[in-house]
Amino acid sequence: MQLIHTLDPLRSAVESLRTDGAIALVPTMGALHDGHLTLVREAKLRAARVVVSIFVNPLQFGANEDLDAYPRQLERDCALLDGEGVDLVWAPGVEVMYPAGFATNIAVSGVSEGLDGAARPGHFDGVATVVCKLFNQVRPDLALFGEKDWQQLAVIRRMARDLDLVLPHADAIHGVATVREADGLAMSSRNAYLTPEQRAAAVALPTAMRAAIVEIESGVALDDALSGLARTLLASGFLSVDYAELCDAADLSVLPARSNKPMRLLVAARIGKARLIDNMAVAPS
Ligand code: PAF
Repeated sequence: MQLIHTLDPLRSAVESLRTDGAIALVPTMGALHDGHLTLVREAKLRAARVVVSIFVNPLQFGANEDLDAYPRQLERDCALLDGEGVDLVWAPGVEVMYPAGFATNIAVSGVSEGLDGAARPGHFDGVATVVCKLFNQVRPDLALFGEKDWQQLAVIRRMARDLDLVLPHADAIHGVATVREADGLAMSSRNAYLTPEQRAAAVALPTAMRAAIVEIESGVALDDALSGLARTLLASGFLSVDYAELCDAADLSVLPARSNKPMRLLVAARIGKARLIDNMAVAPS
């Protein structure tokens, strides 16, 4: 497995990998867990060569967010990726990704504006900008992202279509189902911020979401189901609920009631030092 930190060696290494067939890119910010490794395994099934990027992207962190605290463990991450048979790890420094004078920003309207876009101003501009750069740097045939960040996936799909990013496969931006701990909590690098007590309480998030979905699907008024969900989280040790919304699965518009189109329930809530997000499908009416 090659570990590369600068652009010229990256370009020659990916051109050489390309002679073996399709290249899949798995963009990450490191601190890898089984959710990331599931993306890597899926990538290996879909492409001859797998590139994983590890870059803690300052552009997608707000001023009061956890950029400095975000776990960085490149050596451990590389050992895990080597064990999975990854071909190349692309780990640029901030000065390589954003050289002095960097002044470009990609803003995706609509789909990036609500939910996490409203709660974390500028976050999705940062994600779109870095993912566009990663696509241009690696020029993958496909890229894989976790469905846990459902809105991020929708933003990246919109950007790739709008900017004609060259990704030749039909399913080139591939979403992979959320990987969960045994008790149902979605895996996240930010779960590491939780104390054992907070970690035990955090299971209320998926449990309350599933209960709300049962209610919505059985005809309980949406407002009642969503306010009950928020109350359960606050009673279980969560400090606040940033949002709990039923949304159109594709454009993320907030729905006033269950509809006949694919839908997701999306929630963001804070517990201890962590802000946890999750989303689940809701059956169309
Ligand atoms: O999902 C993530 O880890 C990040 O948002 C991504 C896609 C690697 C961009 O920095």
